[in-house]
Amino acid sequence: MDFVQDAFDKNWITTMGDNVTGLEQDIETYLGGGEHAVVVNSGTAALHLSLLLLGVGKGDVVLCQDLTFAATVNPVIYLGAEPVLVDSERQTWNVSPAFLEEAVADCIQKGKKPKVIVWVDLYGMPAQIHAIREIARKYDIALIEDAAEAFGSSYDGKKCGTWGDISVISFNGNKIITTSGGGVLLSAKKEQVEKARFLATQARDEAPWYQHSQIGYNYRMSNITAGVGRGQMTVLDERVEARRANNRFYREALTALPGIQVHAEPDEHYFSNHWLSCLLIDPKQTGGVDCSRIRSKLAESNIESRFLWKPMHLQPVFKDCRFYGDGTSEALFATGLCLPSGSNLTKEELTEIVDSIKNTLNR
Ligand SMILES: Cc1ncc(COP(=O)(O)O)c(C=O)c1O
Repeated sequence: MDFVQDAFDKNWITTMGDNVTGLEQDIETYLGGGEHAVVVNSGTAALHLSLLLLGVGKGDVVLCQDLTFAATVNPVIYLGAEPVLVDSERQTWNVSPAFLEEAVADCIQKGKKPKVIVWVDLYGMPAQIHAIREIARKYDIALIEDAAEAFGSSYDGKKCGTWGDISVISFNGNKIITTSGGGVLLSAKKEQVEKARFLATQARDEAPWYQHSQIGYNYRMSNITAGVGRGQMTVLDERVEARRANNRFYREALTALPGIQVHAEPDEHYFSNHWLSCLLIDPKQTGGVDCSRIRSKLAESNIESRFLWKPMHLQPVFKDCRFYGDGTSEALFATGLCLPSGSNLTKEELTEIVDSIKNTLNR
């Protein structure tokens, strides 16, 4: 409230001001990898600008992780480019390096090398980032890290949001911290971030009048919502710890049950913010109880759970996209459930959720 009040006190409530620059600095300091930041009014806007900065245009091929929220892929369509979807691997649920390389090689063989690869750190879990970067390096393809869900996560000790040529984090209302709506574009290249800021501010040329040599966008974050973000930055580590504690609770309570697997970090290279804690339920081992059944039983107790993101190749709007994979994302979708994961869940609430799942399994 102090940061927001400051915007009003200074009568500076537009898309510029101390909170905007302050939030950008706070994010740069937190990530600590020498990144430059420009805050915008959504993660989707940041992804759109990232593709623009990497030169994506009509007819270009962009390889995208299949198991994600639609906002990873939609900006590819905004630019008239072709999204090609790549399946997940089982460990992190993120893009499979094996299918990624197959997709790259096949696209090259068919005469069009992909311009960009977009991977996701889904539900906060870092992807197999070294392997993805190795493929990008080998074929000389630019990388976008969609770390929308992974603020506070890290891989090999380096924060998510610092691994792409350009990386993106979302501050949507449902994320680990929020500006009510917003996002940030990150790059180690200062000039790239300055270009993003220019494009996000209607691409106004330096001139005494309104002059435009390029098409621009109205994508900047307001100084008021940036104030919310500055306040949120002071509690980010607490939120990460709270979400990780949820995940620990679910793991301790549920992992021993036959047919139940709580999504967890594969090894010590991965540090997830566990934005959402998710389960896989194998009905073959639970006497036929599947994720739909658990979801509806939880709903009877007024506990909301959700299916995983429906893979993009199964979405009506992307049904004609090329897809490389073996059905892993589909299998995850068919057996997965996102459990309540809020940072303010109490021990009693977590216990109630776990008891409801156990009761459904025992019935
Ligand atoms: C993986 C992923 N990418 C992109 C976005 C888009 O972010 P925003 O909602 O801030 O536009 C989201 C979240 O909403 C997301 O979960």
